[in-house]
Amino acid sequence: MSASIPTTGAPERPDWTDRMLDLEVGAVAHGGHCVARHEGRVVFVRHALPGERVHAVVTEDHGGSFCRADAVTVLDAAPGRVTPACPWAGPGGCGGCDWQHADHDTQRDLKAAVVAEQLSRLAGIERDVVCEALPGGPLGWRTRMRMAVTDDGRPGLRAHRSHEVLPVGDCPIAVRGALDPVVARTWTPTAEIEIVADAAGETHATELLEGTRRLEIGSGTAHEHAAGRDWALPAPAFWQVHPGAADAVVSAAVEGVGELGADDVVWDLYGGAGLIAAALADRAGDVSIVESDPDATAAAGENLADLPAARVVRGRVEKVLDSLARTTPPDVIVADPPRKGLGRELAGRIGAVGARRIVHVACDPAALARDVAALAEAGYTLERLRVFDAFPMTHHVECVATLVRRRSAAELDPSNRT
Ligand SMILES: C[S@@+](CC[C@H](N)C(=O)[O-])C[C@H]1O[C@@H](n2cnc3c(N)ncnc32)[C@H](O)[C@@H]1O
Repeated sequence: MSASIPTTGAPERPDWTDRMLDLEVGAVAHGGHCVARHEGRVVFVRHALPGERVHAVVTEDHGGSFCRADAVTVLDAAPGRVTPACPWAGPGGCGGCDWQHADHDTQRDLKAAVVAEQLSRLAGIERDVVCEALPGGPLGWRTRMRMAVTDDGRPGLRAHRSHEVLPVGDCPIAVRGALDPVVARTWTPTAEIEIVADAAGETHATELLEGTRRLEIGSGTAHEHAAGRDWALPAPAFWQVHPGAADAVVSAAVEGVGELGADDVVWDLYGGAGLIAAALADRAGDVSIVESDPDATAAAGENLADLPAARVVRGRVEKVLDSLARTTPPDVIVADPPRKGLGRELAGRIGAVGARRIVHVACDPAALARDVAALAEAGYTLERLRVFDAFPMTHHVECVATLVRRRSAAELDPSNRT
């Protein structure tokens, strides 16, 4: 047996887990928490607001430069603090909401500050940001949600950063009544339940278990109304979660796209069921909806059948981009990728296509800021930014950024014109 060898290097940090800290809470940070400092370390504090003094218990400490804590006692409250509407929102509670303890105006100020900070830090852009409210207030808006199931078969929601399932029967941010048929019965323990409450008032619930999906409640066809049209789509296909978000995103995207001519070619990348394309296809010559989900492409084909300029390209953006650029080079690109954004490489490739405008729809401000930075390197300037509070009570936002291609010196020099 070998003797243990003494190690050298940085001294081991004591584990702060369960330690109670007295904290002056600083600025909001991306992720639904605020930043505090204690004995030279950063503490990400949930359930607190900037400017407060709190007692916070450390919930997670992996020994790095930061740890996580929950504010459990508020010693000096910030003006925007309110009592959470939901009894499950609080230390040790449901992980779905981050800002139930802030009034709605304060929530939007916090989100605007996060978007501004991410743009500054990741894209070097200094900009005042406003987070716009959508109609309907902060409760009763959630039309799509995924629930877990407790060991005894009750639907529930997971605790923050945990697999524990809390038997949250009545989620106040869900559309009122939407969960009634879901919580009225039992489900298979370990399953997940995908719930869609459509604009026609029907709830669709699918049980997801070990890679299989079984529709248990509803017809499975969601009926929506947005962009002045009625839509029918398979319930699992992507649709905006807040009832007011589809129209808000479409109007911001149309504003960002600007003037279109009858010969203009538009790409609607990550086009879903064609929501944004539908609002552009009567003003452009050709609108290609690029989408990988077969449910969504089928829905786009059916819902946009009356718009001859719209066509569906089924495939992954990263795969079809080059051939599409050869056959149908775009004047304008709309890109609405999933939460992780385009990523540096793909943003660079999209920028290199040379469209005069790129409208980037994003639900993660950090991903948006990274993509804006990559598009800036490809020659685009952030012209306009709309930020919507499409997920009240949570830290999430929906952003619509319009980027305009900078003209090169050669393009600007009149002597180069023929
Ligand atoms: C945020 S949704 C946007 C949908 C649509 N623009 C809307 O507003 O309803 C992103 C969409 O991208 C699709 N998607 C995800 N990864 C993709 C990829 N690599 N290529 C093409 N589509 C993708 C998803 O299926 C989803 O429909």
